[in-house]
Amino acid sequence: MQELARVNVFFGRNGSGKTSVLEAIHLLGMARSFRGNSVKSLITHGEANCVVYGMADAPGTSGAGVSLGVQRGVDGDITIKVGGGAVKSVAHLVEHLPLQVINADSFELLTGSPAARRQYLDWGVFHVEHRFLEQWQRFQRCIKQRNKLLRHGKIQPQELAVWTRDLATSGAAIGEYRKEYFKLLVPRFKGIVGQLVPSLAAGLELRYHQGWDRQASYAEALQNSLATDTEHGYTHVGPQRADIRVLLDGHLAAETLSRGQQKLVVCGLKLAQGQLVTEQGKGCCTYLVDDLPSELDLQHSRQVCELLASMEAQVFITCVDRAAIAAVWPADKAGMTMFHVEHGSVSPVSAAAV
Ligand SMILES: Nc1ncnc2c1ncn2[C@@H]1O[C@H](COP(=O)(O)OP(=O)(O)OP(=O)(O)O)[C@@H](O)[C@H]1O
Ligand SMILES: [Mg+2]
Repeated sequence: MQELARVNVFFGRNGSGKTSVLEAIHLLGMARSFRGNSVKSLITHGEANCVVYGMADAPGTSGAGVSLGVQRGVDGDITIKVGGGAVKSVAHLVEHLPLQVINADSFELLTGSPAARRQYLDWGVFHVEHRFLEQWQRFQRCIKQRNKLLRHGKIQPQELAVWTRDLATSGAAIGEYRKEYFKLLVPRFKGIVGQLVPSLAAGLELRYHQGWDRQASYAEALQNSLATDTEHGYTHVGPQRADIRVLLDGHLAAETLSRGQQKLVVCGLKLAQGQLVTEQGKGCCTYLVDDLPSELDLQHSRQVCELLASMEAQVFITCVDRAAIAAVWPADKAGMTMFHVEHGSVSPVSAAAV
């Protein structure tokens, strides 16, 4: 197995296989595609499964690698191995290879549904707060049961109360972890956006909405919404309704910013999370940047690259033309390897040619 450089650039024509390389790394770290939940896009048409394996430096250390392996089948089969042993939960894989993707779909973080932003937030909380996962799993179990009871109409108040009590505890914990994480995230985001797009930095604001009335505890909010929940058959309030609003001068950034500016703000959000993971001693985030130059002018591409170069994160970048990356990456290209991708084959090219 070949050890990879800190910065790896994959260039080649359309359809040569560049995004597929990033997909393979994403599969290794997250056990799924970054192009949606369908496993089909990962598996070569006509094949029954796909497999990827690699070594990741254990978070916070260097040199002591842990082997990771993921196999996915068209029939839904999933096998995950960490350090040679099979693990049942994807969460046990994810903690070994914190990944952030920046690609054409990343705009969704601003323009898409709150679910995308909750996923973003929870990625960060998961990596810095080890107690989060257990509460999150408990919450999912409770809300499923509670909604089932509410849906079925004939509700035993005592049974509902049991689930409501557990839901209130785990939901409040999730809200608290998210709030604490958000407090750490905001200044990092502001700092990074200040470097990327100084003209926007002063007007940009992140707001965290926990999913229930700020003045009330989660238990109180559940109590207040009991009649509505019973009438409609599901739980209306809680961390499942949380959101992060990104605003520019008080207006939704998604409705105000240009495409390029949106990409820069998304880069700011993702780089801020990577910075936080490292600061919290949870290792380095690995960035998968698909088609870095798209939507960005030369100056802003340079600024994104400067930040990526300064973060000591491992970076995998794709582009059609290698000259496009050579032109925007900082002059010191030590630690960068370029790969030519052609008909699905990847070959390193001489650094001197960069
Ligand atoms: N599940 C699949 N089975 C077989 N071939 C596939 C599958 N999914 C994608 N391909 C093909 O693999 C090739 C590589 O696709 P990929 O998206 O990696 O290209 P790319 O180098 O990123 O191209 P672009 O520059 O256009 O983004 C394409 O020809 C694509 O049609
Ligand atoms: Mg591509």
